[in-house]
Amino acid sequence: MCGIVGYVGFRNAKEVLLKALKRLEYRGYDSAGVAILNSTIKIEKRKGFVDSLDIKFGGNIGIAHTRWATHGKPSDENAHPFTDCKREFAIVHNGIIENFMELKKMLSSRGHIFTSDTDSEVIVHLLEEFYNGDFLDTFIKVVNILHGSFAIVAIHQGDNVILGAKKESPLVIGCGDHENFVASDIPAFLEYTNRVITLNDGEICEVSSDSVKVYDFKGEAKYKQVQYINWTVEHAEKGGFEHFMLKEIFEQPRALEETLYSLTSREFYLTPVPRKISIVACGTSYHAGLVGKYLFEKYLKIPVEVHYASEYRYRPDVRENPLVILITQSGETADTLAAARIARRRGYRTLAITNVLGSSITNYVDDTVYTSAGPEIGVAATKTFTAQLIAMHYLAIESARAWNFMSHIDYESKMDLLRRIPYLVEKVMDIEERVIKEASYIKNKNDIFYIARGINYPVAMEGALKMKEISYIHAEAYPAGELKHGPLALIDEDVPVVAIISKDKTYSKMLGNLKEVSARGAYVIAVSPEEEVEKYSDSLIPIPEDDDESVIYTASVVLQLLAYHTAKMLGREIDKPKNLAKSVTVE
Ligand code: M6R
Repeated sequence: MCGIVGYVGFRNAKEVLLKALKRLEYRGYDSAGVAILNSTIKIEKRKGFVDSLDIKFGGNIGIAHTRWATHGKPSDENAHPFTDCKREFAIVHNGIIENFMELKKMLSSRGHIFTSDTDSEVIVHLLEEFYNGDFLDTFIKVVNILHGSFAIVAIHQGDNVILGAKKESPLVIGCGDHENFVASDIPAFLEYTNRVITLNDGEICEVSSDSVKVYDFKGEAKYKQVQYINWTVEHAEKGGFEHFMLKEIFEQPRALEETLYSLTSREFYLTPVPRKISIVACGTSYHAGLVGKYLFEKYLKIPVEVHYASEYRYRPDVRENPLVILITQSGETADTLAAARIARRRGYRTLAITNVLGSSITNYVDDTVYTSAGPEIGVAATKTFTAQLIAMHYLAIESARAWNFMSHIDYESKMDLLRRIPYLVEKVMDIEERVIKEASYIKNKNDIFYIARGINYPVAMEGALKMKEISYIHAEAYPAGELKHGPLALIDEDVPVVAIISKDKTYSKMLGNLKEVSARGAYVIAVSPEEEVEKYSDSLIPIPEDDDESVIYTASVVLQLLAYHTAKMLGREIDKPKNLAKSVTVE
């Protein structure tokens, strides 16, 4: 999983590519590199962040890469772009070439010298090996030899074009005036254009400063529609915030409002009525799926299962014919794409919930529901999580209405709640100072427990994931009622407990759990709209009082802020946590 970009036009390619790489750094950041064609190809690449590049050459056409290592450790040698033995071609690649070992063996036996341990380097030597005087023709031939997943961008000395190919890794084209862009993601070129062509799997593009042509892998020309994106460059910039994550936390009222607005304008509901729903997702999206289970089961009275996408493939086909809902903010997570393919092969109806227009998942499903959170750059998902929650909340309520499971009065009252959510989330931001106080306590601890019951339990899981991924403190979420079955043995004065408590049917049981952990010496931080909870905790972080279902949103924001401030006090790389990348395009 990496970020790739290509530029051809009238500007200084170096500046365009460096800016684009900064915007793609969320996709990987262990090494970076740039190749520029200016009669010959020159390359600067090294281990480390994009800022470590020192480019002393210019030109109007080039390609660049920011890497998250899969094959070969992060090093100067394994950084992209790669060039062939004669330095006439350069390529950047995102994905995995599964047959690279046999290709490398064949190429080595024909005298090609490899300079890296990567799978990607075979691509550029294949171009050199099969070059027949026609760059596009050779590129098509090479792409057809490769097995695995790839987005590739290539340049060749003597050709003022960029070639790109896509199979199971994202690649989009930005169409400018006398300039064009090819990149893994739209923010890379948003500063210059909002006219976008998304490539599908099995498509190749040939891009010059004045033309964009698309072909299939057989070389047949294809017609592609240009789409206009309503994201702006400000969406993809920090806008005065210290980190993207903080900016994205604070963008939640708008993300929720826009997601709800676009869904209500479409009046989308689940049809035909499924007998069962299977939700499939990874990481934060999986936690959103667990919240979705509560909402769908409550409003639609049908069974809902939630699966990790990486495990879904091992599940036998039990012929249950569910509606499969695939949740992925990026639309590019390899495990989720693989699950979508399996669901489709089994003949199940599929629906994607994604934040990225035209992302790969949309090619694999029958229907797509978009969240409108805007681009999310911080590796830790925040606004896309709550946007996924409101999308499912809306789907559950709207489907209940359409299936006649809900009276008009109840429907209106629930829709009113959804319309209030952005305001409640805005209100909860005011308690940031309280959260900072708790973060200063937590930062010195090695372990934290998060507890909750019912619909709040997956919110606790998400809070623990946020804490782990950006602060590197071990955090574990447990259904509060399960503590006594084992984990209570771990609770003492060194293990703080964060509890989410709603005034719902779980309320008194949760108070009992607070007593249980306090008695073992735990420092208890409660997140609740109920003042009474203060008596049962060491610290109460108050959230706005409203319908119980609002707590999934307001508590999420508190836990995001708690993780953020803890990580900040510990001096962590908040937007780019170690070992992680934003889109996980490997299985
Ligand atoms: O793009 P996706 O929603 O499919 O991504 C799934 C996970 O990789 C992602 O949620 C990951 O867990 C985040 N780093 C969590 O903050």
